[in-house]
Amino acid sequence: MNRRDWIKSASIAVGASCIARKTFADGLTLPPRESSHGCINLSMNENQFGPSMKALSAIKESSIYANEYPLEAQERLKKLIAKKESVATSQVILGAGSSDITMGAASAFGRTGSNMVSSDPSFHPLMLWAEKFGVDHVKIPWDAEHRADLTRIEESITEDTSLVYICNPENPAGTLEHPHDLYEFCKRVSEKCPVLVDEAYIEYAGDVDSLSMMRCVREGLPVIVLRTFSKAYGLGGMRVGYAVTTKDLADRLAAYYVTGIGCGCSHTSLEAAIAAYTDQSWMDSVRTRTAESRKYLCDYYDSIGQSYIPSVTTFILAPIKQDSTQVADAIFGAFNLKVSPRNYFGQNYLRISVGTIEQMEKLTSALTYVL
Ligand SMILES: Cc1ncc(COP(=O)(O)O)c(C=O)c1O
Repeated sequence: MNRRDWIKSASIAVGASCIARKTFADGLTLPPRESSHGCINLSMNENQFGPSMKALSAIKESSIYANEYPLEAQERLKKLIAKKESVATSQVILGAGSSDITMGAASAFGRTGSNMVSSDPSFHPLMLWAEKFGVDHVKIPWDAEHRADLTRIEESITEDTSLVYICNPENPAGTLEHPHDLYEFCKRVSEKCPVLVDEAYIEYAGDVDSLSMMRCVREGLPVIVLRTFSKAYGLGGMRVGYAVTTKDLADRLAAYYVTGIGCGCSHTSLEAAIAAYTDQSWMDSVRTRTAESRKYLCDYYDSIGQSYIPSVTTFILAPIKQDSTQVADAIFGAFNLKVSPRNYFGQNYLRISVGTIEQMEKLTSALTYVL
């Protein structure tokens, strides 16, 4: 395809791009709608299948309580999470997105002169905030399999280490630690300092209970498990996240972010989260559809001989020869489709979130031209 044909096909694609075409007779697919971004946005790991219908109804129904502080809804969500994870309600912290709690953790643990250890690249906002308080960020490169190098991370802990951050599954690689190895790591390391395990994408990775480090919390280890409703639960716009940890660490965290009259979440957000949390069939459908679309993109990469890092999540990181920013700009300019350009240690990558099959078709048309 030459450039002119490509741009022509791109503009056709743009017309249909933001519209989910399926009907929703199955109760699992949202009505057609334009994206609020004004483009197909595959750069932010949003759930392209949208929120569950039950969450949408809960948002509508709870809007009449906008005048009231959401204390009851907050307690209800905490209780649901505590029951599911077999911990006390006092061990659950809610935040306006997990970012809210991340920020709290940066303040709670980030004493001046201390350091925090994480893999690199990873999801770094916690350490970036902590750096503002004079904390040194010790970055340990991935191992050969694009996972956190647990051995080297453990070796770099000193008496000044105030927190170890592990993103599992890893963002941006999409890889997963072996649960047994990570569990043993958490057991040893948490004797020296708290370990925060960010499980933002764990629901995509398989059987959550067997993969999660929640068992460390149940065993009383100083481990903080961070989760979010922004990804598999499809509620990025509602801003609800949570942490589950020991009572001591929960109290320490709670001292550093919005509490008192309520957490930072609104009434509608909390009701949406409660509805999504209890809507298992919708979650199952998100997992199935995400896996189908991830396979679609992997099959495409295989067909053109493009390598990528095998992912258990809703995004795929692929090393490319071209300048990733130029490639992302070209795709956006012609297809109104955003992907995330990355460069790590001089290597260019594209990190692309998977979406509906229709979106994957547009994406692969675009990639065919630029890769
Ligand atoms: C690994 C990871 N953790 C946490 C977050 C923050 O999500 P939120 O604040 O929406 O819960 C993100 C967002 O992309 C993420 O990728």
